[in-house]
Amino acid sequence: MSEAFAAVEIISAKRDRGELTDPQIDWVIDAYTRGVVADEQMSALLMAILLNGMNSREISRWTDAMIKSGERLEWSALDRPTVDKHSTGGVGDKITLPLAPLVAACGAAVPQLSGRGLGHTGGTLDKLESIPGWRASLSNEEMLAVLKSCGAVICAAGSGLAPADKKLYALRDVTATVEAIPLIASSIMSKKIAEGTSALILDVKTGVGAFMSDPLKARELAQVMVELGTRAGVKTRALVTAMDVPLGLTAGNALEVRESIEVLAGGGPADIVELTLVLAREMIDASGVKPLMDPADALRNGAAMDSWKAMIRAQGGDPDAKLPVAKEQTVITAQSSGELIAMDAMKVGVSAWRLGAGRSRQGESVQAGAGIEIHAKPGEQVVAGQPLFTLHTDESARFERAMEALDGAVKISQTGEKVERLPLIIERIEG
Ligand code: URA
Repeated sequence: MSEAFAAVEIISAKRDRGELTDPQIDWVIDAYTRGVVADEQMSALLMAILLNGMNSREISRWTDAMIKSGERLEWSALDRPTVDKHSTGGVGDKITLPLAPLVAACGAAVPQLSGRGLGHTGGTLDKLESIPGWRASLSNEEMLAVLKSCGAVICAAGSGLAPADKKLYALRDVTATVEAIPLIASSIMSKKIAEGTSALILDVKTGVGAFMSDPLKARELAQVMVELGTRAGVKTRALVTAMDVPLGLTAGNALEVRESIEVLAGGGPADIVELTLVLAREMIDASGVKPLMDPADALRNGAAMDSWKAMIRAQGGDPDAKLPVAKEQTVITAQSSGELIAMDAMKVGVSAWRLGAGRSRQGESVQAGAGIEIHAKPGEQVVAGQPLFTLHTDESARFERAMEALDGAVKISQTGEKVERLPLIIERIEG
């Protein structure tokens, strides 16, 4: 088959700061998915995009081309509106776990296609897989059946959804081209739009533990994604939220499930409850559904817990089973007394990862019980010798490097210095 373009022309256009035309973008994504454009050519184009950017028309067309590379789900068989949430990822960010069943209990349907962790941030599927029996891979028919019966489903994206993104993401990972706003925004939004949700709330993380550590860059990413969603007819809003300090009091798979269940039982750490409720209210409002109850009531009266249990059971899990516990624990104590004024989310995330909670290569298995419990957060008074962290792992040889990662992770002040942390909700962006 003769090809409409030569990849070299498209690469040189972007290298020379030109705009790519719609037909060029359509072709290059399609030809790369078909294997006609080689990895080395796409790598060069991705680097040119990272260095020279794309305008909003180019980003929008690039996103559309990725959507068209695969199937598009649709949920017209449901009798309630769909709404989803996407977080750009952080340490201790288990919000999806209580949030999806909570929003379902309030009356909207939540089709959540989630991912696995890579690097220092955890993945929702890895967390849920610590529940005995729970299954992440569902067919489209199974997904619809769970959504109909429970109002929420959390599962892995099938191979038919945005296959261009799967290839591109793997290539970006090994060519230092992950951190380009046009590429991140199109990657996330192609999957969310193809997932078929009618409304979407984006939780864009910023701070040292996020991969957009600069709040201005996080805002720009949020704006680009809101524009892409809105143009595609998805009611999209974004919150830019703090990821300088870990969320909640746990980082690690089963540990985070346990904390999520505490939230669903009406308890849990204040920051997790606050962010869950803020996101739930945004999701319910964006979906347009008349809520069956207020989300705070659904956490108090057991309705969200009932939805959670139904959703876990529908995917083969036992919501009442004992969660895995790591074989080994060690406690790290405060070196001095005073006010805890800072806790570095990145250091805590790397430490949990080194304990076995995360993976360093795609396909590696993770330890269900590994991770970190946090015993004090910024703003609290601590006394020398009191526990600050409990580290969990199945292999005690991992403790040394995990403890090294925590070097300098907390600051304790005796001089009344101000607590160093970002507000939990930094900014809200609407389409
Ligand atoms: N998550 C994605 O799905 N894609 C990116 O590019 C970054 C985060």
